[in-house]
Amino acid sequence: MSLKFGIYKCKICGNVVQTLISGEGELVCCGEEMELLEAKYEENELGEKHVPLIETRHEGCETGMCHDETYVTVLKHPMIQEHYIQFIEVFNKDKSEIRLKFFNPNQKAEYKISGLNGDVTAYELCNIHGLWRSV
Ligand SMILES: [Fe+2]
Repeated sequence: MSLKFGIYKCKICGNVVQTLISGEGELVCCGEEMELLEAKYEENELGEKHVPLIETRHEGCETGMCHDETYVTVLKHPMIQEHYIQFIEVFNKDKSEIRLKFFNPNQKAEYKISGLNGDVTAYELCNIHGLWRSV
């Protein structure tokens, strides 16, 4: 049985898929069962940081349009061709809404998520170090 919003990877070809509606069957790619990626959430001694940060910033005051915006960031991590954040994904606790933003090398790993209802959990996928979640 697949897990709702579970992210699965093929160990052979590198395909990454996500379950939107879960079913009874196993996900198979290249003739083998796909691996469910477990999200890590404790930083190690790698030097770069992987855990996504969710922060609210007060913006627009200089133009008289003060408002709060919520961002997910993974800024203390390389964004080079060989090593970068491939996407940030966010969903709320009851899994009724999901948002996803892809990144290319040299982009800033930052995603504005204002308007998402309820408590959210953020995920990011590093092309080398795998899946991470906010705490
Ligand atoms: Fe990494």
